[in-house]
Amino acid sequence: MAVITVLKMGDPRLQLQAEKISDFESDSLRDNIADMIDTMRQYHGVGLAAPQIGIAKQIIILEVDNNPRYPDADTIELEILINPKIIQFSQQKDLAWEGCLSLPGMRGKVERSREITYQANTETGQSYTATAQGFHARVIQHEIDHLNGILYPQRLTTLNEFGFEDSLPEFQQALI
Ligand code: NI
Repeated sequence: MAVITVLKMGDPRLQLQAEKISDFESDSLRDNIADMIDTMRQYHGVGLAAPQIGIAKQIIILEVDNNPRYPDADTIELEILINPKIIQFSQQKDLAWEGCLSLPGMRGKVERSREITYQANTETGQSYTATAQGFHARVIQHEIDHLNGILYPQRLTTLNEFGFEDSLPEFQQALI
């Protein structure tokens, strides 16, 4: 399909509430997912939400496979979540650095639940429930935020841990 230019923070389309998918047979759903996969891989994202390519629909995708932007992250197989919803958040939380393709070159420290239970539909519409931990849980929480018009800077606990990768000491060596 196609690589689409990722919208950047400030674009009002990133602030919309995404619509639920009800028609799982449509060609447009297939096309949207294919474009999202191509775009996420081209940009070296570990996740992408449809609103980031201007589609206000509840679709998120994740994949981690030797990602240069997250060299320490464990592998996550390609996962496509339609209408995802977190139904349980662990009390235990972790504070860790996040990035976002809509804020290129920036990172911020965000607190997220260590474990989540979520419900979603597959590409063909089957409903399922699953759990995720650690970085996997973090990516899902980050991407679902996009469906509600929320970008990670709105989740920062302090602006002192937010900045450009090429200036933050933590990223001088970690990133290629
Ligand atoms: Ni993002």
